Amino acid sequence: MQAKVYLTTLSGVLLSAQFAMAQQITIPVQTAHHAQVLQVTDSKDLNTIYFGEKLANDAEYAMVQSTYRQSGDYTNQLSAAYTPAGSRSLAEPAIAVTHADGNNSLDLRYVNHELTKVDDNVSLLKIRLKDPVYDFEVTLFYKSWFKEDVVEQWSEIRHREKGNVVLHKFASANVHLQAPAYWLTQYHGDWAKEMQPEESRLTHGIKTLDTKLGTRANLFQPSVFMVSLGKPATEDEGTVLYGAVEYSGNFRVDLELDPRDNLRIIAGINNYASDYTLAPDEVFTTPAFLYTFSGSGKGDASRNLHRWARNYKLLDGKGERLTLLNNWESTYFDFNEEKLFALFKDTKALGVDLFLLDDGWFANKYPRNDDHAGLGDWQENKTKLPNGITSLVKQAQADGVKFGIWVEPEMVNPKSELYEKHKDWVIRQPKREEHYFRNQLVLDLSNPQVQEFVFRVIDDLFTKSPDLAYIKWDCNAVIYNAYSAHLKNQSHFFIEYMRGLYKVLERIRKKYPTVPMMLCSGGGGRVDYAALQYFTEFWPSDNTDPLERIFMQWEYSYFYPAISSSNHVTDWGRQPLKFRTDVAMMGKLGFDIVVSKLGENDLKYAQQAVKTYDAVKHIIWQGNQYRLANPREGSVASVLYLDEKQSSGVIFNYLVNNRYDEGSKLPIRLKGLKASGKYKIKEVNLYPGTTSTIDAEKVYSGDFLMKVGFNPDVNSRRTSVVLQIDEV
Ligand code: DGJ
Repeated sequence: MQAKVYLTTLSGVLLSAQFAMAQQITIPVQTAHHAQVLQVTDSKDLNTIYFGEKLANDAEYAMVQSTYRQSGDYTNQLSAAYTPAGSRSLAEPAIAVTHADGNNSLDLRYVNHELTKVDDNVSLLKIRLKDPVYDFEVTLFYKSWFKEDVVEQWSEIRHREKGNVVLHKFASANVHLQAPAYWLTQYHGDWAKEMQPEESRLTHGIKTLDTKLGTRANLFQPSVFMVSLGKPATEDEGTVLYGAVEYSGNFRVDLELDPRDNLRIIAGINNYASDYTLAPDEVFTTPAFLYTFSGSGKGDASRNLHRWARNYKLLDGKGERLTLLNNWESTYFDFNEEKLFALFKDTKALGVDLFLLDDGWFANKYPRNDDHAGLGDWQENKTKLPNGITSLVKQAQADGVKFGIWVEPEMVNPKSELYEKHKDWVIRQPKREEHYFRNQLVLDLSNPQVQEFVFRVIDDLFTKSPDLAYIKWDCNAVIYNAYSAHLKNQSHFFIEYMRGLYKVLERIRKKYPTVPMMLCSGGGGRVDYAALQYFTEFWPSDNTDPLERIFMQWEYSYFYPAISSSNHVTDWGRQPLKFRTDVAMMGKLGFDIVVSKLGENDLKYAQQAVKTYDAVKHIIWQGNQYRLANPREGSVASVLYLDEKQSSGVIFNYLVNNRYDEGSKLPIRLKGLKASGKYKIKEVNLYPGTTSTIDAEKVYSGDFLMKVGFNPDVNSRRTSVVLQIDEV
């Protein structure tokens, strides 16, 4: 009976239950705690019938829709798994096309599906949809990671029409949620202000998150977001979906609250200025839309995502990382060989693994002495470095440290030999005035010659200096005046740029599979899981003021694991060295300070901090992260990293409010421990000459620490407190 009701509601056609059962194909995409269930209607539409916490009994998914009494759909397509435009659907489409004969209508009906088990944990589902009138088809892909509750969705579009088809929209995914209310957490930003969160209740109509910047695409908005169902989720409670487009270029996420009060999320490449002409038999593959779903709050969702990233996505996610000393803020462009040699010694004295030479080492005709000139001319500047990079690498090694280097190979200054020689490689409108972002322009990576050039920038460095141990890949400019002298069809420009970039990165990784590379974009202007397949870490922001970083790293930490976050200690902000270092330790630690100018105690502290970090870094990188006290909700921020065995952890605690008498008045409840375990907590990373107020000998049960908590004794005299917790 219920199946009958369901069919009536869904398709408006009354069928007998037996017939319906015989006809209906139900396709579940299930992970440990989540299910997205699709169903083929009698008219072969593919709809979503369930998206939420997994049910214990598979057979009951078929009854879900019978429990809803929402208004009618009119089209049977509001819950479509991939909404085509121009036929019945009146909602925001996932795909819109103009066929070879000029017709704009598309309909997609289920043909077949196939489930492949990649291994015990990973499955790949393919569902083929086809237009009944045109020889046009879309294959939907659902790759799911069972244990991590993560799903990637993407699509392949192809046709065999007698001529080209123009794709106007080509989403990766189209998911459909049903809940009493939807709360969106989105992010915005600018230079030095990355990852500013905003949470709001979605109202009817379409909310779009997008970027049209081409490169440095996340400058104003990243593609990561959360949708809480019913009410805003907290760390440990509530139902929440985390979404992200795995794409480094223009993305678009439409969140449409439809007339039936359901939420349609359509995500993928931004179709802005990107009509794509698809030849017969050519396959257009979209990037993946990534999501994880949790019925137990944001904490579990992010820990699942971290585990997934480390195990499956982030380059060398289970590997080692190098601590480093960077010279950007200590020298800017003003250095020479002698100064650098001294910095190698400082690197060694500090105890970190590598020295990272930043911007300013290249170009001769137009030397890179400030940010107005030289980008594109990747030869060592002879005045600054008469003996080249090779000699630097050797000297660094002789001093017992590794050597890494900064590049920005996608970019060019008009004041450069490259620009003079290859204006045709530069993205610019031939008939318009150039407009610069940080005095520079972007190279046209849609052009294979430019791809070759960019590859060579990296390859030549390694060829000349095989011991080069690290690359910082920067990308400071957005794309103005988008135009490629190489492409015939300018509407392909943004897409071809990204394809070109990924081709280059692919080639680099084939030849240099694991050399660590930092993904930097004038701060965090390019942070996404497509790029992180090629990079071991990202640069969250040029803003390294530790107070700001507590907030920023907190937000990044919902989506990216600590091992991928490059955090440098600099002179930004007013906090003491200990505070700055403690904050930078919550990720991959680096320094960008003048070591030789540190006072005796500061140097001693920093050296000891590096040792402490080396002892606990594996917990921070590979452990589970628990956000304990939210800096936006109180005067104290607290974050715990706990190893998988639940026996060792590090807790970082900070005062984030300077008002009178603020501090950790209440104990902070720990999470993730064994209730029956016995633990000791001691303070580490103490500044020389100070003593801890924490009694390191006391033993607490996990039960106590999770129900009552622990007081790190944060106050205006102890603004930054790092604790180590160990099972006894
Ligand atoms: C922007 C980066 O975010 C900085 O860390 C630094 O590398 C500069 N570019 C160099 O120009």
